[in-house]
Amino acid sequence: MAQIIELIRPSADRSPAPCGVLAHCGACSIQQMSYAAQLAAKQSALIKQLAALGCAEQIIGQILAPPSPFGYRTRLLMPADQQQDKLCFGLYQRGTARLVPAEGCPVQHPLTLAVLAGCRQLLASHEIQASSVGGWLHALGVRVDPHGQQAQLLLCTTSPKVPAEKTLVAQLLQLPGVFSVHLTAQAERSSYPVGPEIKHLGGGARMPFHIAGKAFLLSPATFVQTSAWAANTLGEQVLALLPEHFDRLADLYGGAGIFAQLAYGRYRQGWVVEENPSAIADLQQMIKQQALSAIRASRGRVEQRVEQLTRFAPDVAIVDPPRQGCKPPAIAALCQAKPTTLIYVACGFEALLRDGQRLLEAGYRVDAVRALDMFPHTPQLEVIMRFVAEKPAR
Ligand SMILES: C[S@@+](CC[C@H](N)C(=O)[O-])C[C@H]1O[C@@H](n2cnc3c(N)ncnc32)[C@H](O)[C@@H]1O
Repeated sequence: MAQIIELIRPSADRSPAPCGVLAHCGACSIQQMSYAAQLAAKQSALIKQLAALGCAEQIIGQILAPPSPFGYRTRLLMPADQQQDKLCFGLYQRGTARLVPAEGCPVQHPLTLAVLAGCRQLLASHEIQASSVGGWLHALGVRVDPHGQQAQLLLCTTSPKVPAEKTLVAQLLQLPGVFSVHLTAQAERSSYPVGPEIKHLGGGARMPFHIAGKAFLLSPATFVQTSAWAANTLGEQVLALLPEHFDRLADLYGGAGIFAQLAYGRYRQGWVVEENPSAIADLQQMIKQQALSAIRASRGRVEQRVEQLTRFAPDVAIVDPPRQGCKPPAIAALCQAKPTTLIYVACGFEALLRDGQRLLEAGYRVDAVRALDMFPHTPQLEVIMRFVAEKPAR
């Protein structure tokens, strides 16, 4: 990663960053570029990457961008620290263990910041201290649903024992917008403060998140996109790329089955595969509540479900893996099952190029590409590619 040592002559694309801690925090590494210049740079990087797959001309239009590149993030996980003897939340300076207080982080949604400020004040009034100085609190997680103006809180702590639990939880729930309070405990401090168990302390167990016009009840351990705009736009774009009617949908790395639920009614049978038990439990609850009997949910790793995938023989698959992409057995099974339409959602270019290459070798071609700027001020880009089978296996 390059670092600016001295600014000799500012580029015409340089714009003053509104973030007061940018120089120390470094999370938004390209915030000093005007937003138009960021998008232009990402578009040209995308075209270069797609050329490697021989499909640069399939980009349809410009990169889709949020209405504002600030105030967009609706998910936050901030470590706690004790500075000048005060509890604070922030982000680690890149490559160090030094926490930069960032409670006014301008990419965060205003509701998130309001909830964060209220929580800090309340936790401090209970004399709760950060684990960096031997206290109880590692970090705070906040996920908000701007549509419902509600927030889900996650206290990341050293132990499950909550000081003055009844009072503290009741007071947290009285903060404006707070829907529920949860806790995850790990004795040791670590770079990822969320442990395997999440305890529900108060409020609703699952909070409604509104995505593409539908409310999804999600637990705090279930994946949601970084921003409400991203979740909505991704849902709408995937829907637009799906055929109107088909037989069997495999929604792989499906989380709580958001795509399978949004596309409900277009297919006869849907199958969601997801390793996270919390996401599968949320989906099962939705299946029950909304009578979504055409969806089956399987908890497990995609690469360990290859025989079932072959037997299920989807004619459409949505593949939305984590940044590292699909494991070799999973991509091999997809090439063998060869759904007629395969929609690959990628948050990492490297994996997209590797897995995309495998799909092309198996006889797919790319007929549509969409890109979303889900993370303004960072070099990241979310890409959706539709692969169609040249010669269906069946
Ligand atoms: C990028 S998220 C997408 C979730 C969902 N499609 C959505 O948009 O809400 C990736 C999901 O894959 C799950 N996951 C990661 N590795 C997996 C694997 N090997 N097999 C199945 N699921 C996996 C994660 O738990 C996460 O829910």
